[in-house]
This record gives sequence, C-alpha cells and structure tokens, in this order.
Amino acid sequence: MTTAPARAQRFTDRRVVVTGAAGGVGQVVAGLFREEGARVVATDVAPADGVVPCDLRDDSARDGFVADALAELGGLDVLCNVAGIQQFAEIGKLTPDGLRRHFDINALAPLMLTQAFAEALVASKGNVVSVTSISAVMGQPYNAQYCASKAALLLGMRSLAVELGTRGVRVNCVSPGGIATPMIEAAAAGLPADANWDLVAKSTSVIPGFMPPVDVAESLMFLASDAAASITGANLVVDRGVVW
Ligand SMILES: NC(=O)c1ccc[n+]([C@@H]2O[C@H](COP(=O)([O-])OP(=O)(O)OC[C@H]3O[C@@H](n4cnc5c(N)ncnc54)[C@H](O)[C@@H]3O)[C@@H](O)[C@H]2O)c1
Repeated sequence: MTTAPARAQRFTDRRVVVTGAAGGVGQVVAGLFREEGARVVATDVAPADGVVPCDLRDDSARDGFVADALAELGGLDVLCNVAGIQQFAEIGKLTPDGLRRHFDINALAPLMLTQAFAEALVASKGNVVSVTSISAVMGQPYNAQYCASKAALLLGMRSLAVELGTRGVRVNCVSPGGIATPMIEAAAAGLPADANWDLVAKSTSVIPGFMPPVDVAESLMFLASDAAASITGANLVVDRGVVW
C-alpha cells in the first residue's frame, strides 16, 4: 500500500483565518494549512465541523468573530478571504437586495475583515489572499452583480496592497475560472429559460472541464507562503486557460 507523501511544512505555528470554510475551496484551504502545521480559525455562515459560525454580512457578528479569532490565535499571519456567493440573474431580475448581497459578501466583507485584522498583520508582517474570479475582468451575461462585486474586490485588494505594503503586509488575489463546487449549480438556477447560450458559452478553457477546488487552494497556499515573499498586488489567474 502506498501512502501520500507528507506535505512541506510551510506554515508551522503560523496563525491563519479562512472564511468560506464549510465547503468548496475554503474547506480544502483550511485543511491544507492544518496539514502544513498552521493554527487555523475557520469560519462560515453554514454549519460544519471545526468551523466557527459567522454571517459575514452582519457587522457586529463579523467584529465579534475578529475579536475571538485574535484572542484565540494571539495575532494573525495569514488572512484568506474565500467566502463568496454567485447567483446568475438577467437584467430584469436584478433587485437591490440581490445586488447588495453580492457586494456585501463578495466585496465589503473581505475589505472590512482586512481592515479589522490589519494591525495584527502589520505586527506579524503577514499577508492576505482573497479569492476573486475571472468574472472580475470580463463581461459575462446574466452575471452583472457577481462580476461587479468581484471587480470591486480585486481593485479594493490592489489598493490595500499598496497601502499596507508600505507597512510590510503583502496582499494578493487568486482569480479562478470554473471550479467543481456547489456554487456553480446554485448560480445556474438563476439563468433564464431562454438564456443566450452563444454568449454564456463564449468563453471556453484550453484544459476542458471545471477544475477541482484543490487546484485553486494550492495557488492560494503558494501566495500565502514565504516562497511568494516578493509577490504583492498580484492577481494569480487559475482558470485552465480561458480564451474568448
Ligand atoms: N465555483 C466557481 O466556479 C468559482 C469560480 C470563480 C471564483 N469562485 C470563488 O471562489 C470562492 C469559493 O467558492 P466555492 O466555489 O468554494 O463555493 P462554495 O459555495 O462551496 O463556498 C463559498 C462559501 O462561502 C460561504 N458564505 C456565503 N455567504 C456567506 C456569508 N454571508 N458569511 C459567511 N460565509 C458565507 C458559503 O456558505 C460557502 O461555504 C468564492 O469567493 C467564489 O466566488 C468560485
């Protein structure tokens, strides 16, 4: 019987917070950090073993989570903003609440979490990795609320990379293409029955199919690691080579 080789221990005793850790990419990321020796506080609005419940849209719940995480870890070395939502909606179905939900969870929460953890990250010369999307830099039909919120996140993080960079904190983004997680199915429920598939399927990837969440997680781990010490303000695209 063969056993998988032990992973490199890049994060021994590093203090890490991961959002969106109940499933998908976030769950894999939290597991990999633990395998590599980190002390991890994982959170999600959905219940899961080893995950602290927190709705990141709720300001006081988010502040309470930050205080508890800092008390438990005694500081912070890495913040991973992975939580997100996506719901396709054609223009006639956009609502203020739907738009606000996308901006609150995809853009505002990671920016406010970075603010809340900033002094701890300055103290540790730590770093932030946020999961945006290729949707942040391309127009996609029925996806205005998601594209706009991820674009806001990308530019917000690039701004913080410059501002916090002067104080020794690196800030980077990973922009995935399609990942085989429940998010894709949930998002598709919002596609109109008469969706224009010429536009929906316009972008295809060189490597076919949706990628496993671990492929995104590995890029995030690299950016968080000391091997990426000279990388900040970057947007690492992990999309199997999407072409238009
Ligand atoms: N699945 C894809 O094809 C794809 C493509 C590009 C980018 N992304 C991004 O990757 C990240 C991870 O997505 P995933 O594919 O693993 O999807 P996922 O749905 O499995 O994971 C997202 C997690 O965020 C959590 N979440 C949602 N709202 C929250 C809230 N208010 N408070 C706290 N947690 C909340 C969910 O409960 C869920 O566990 C997301 O930011 C997503 O936008 C996904």
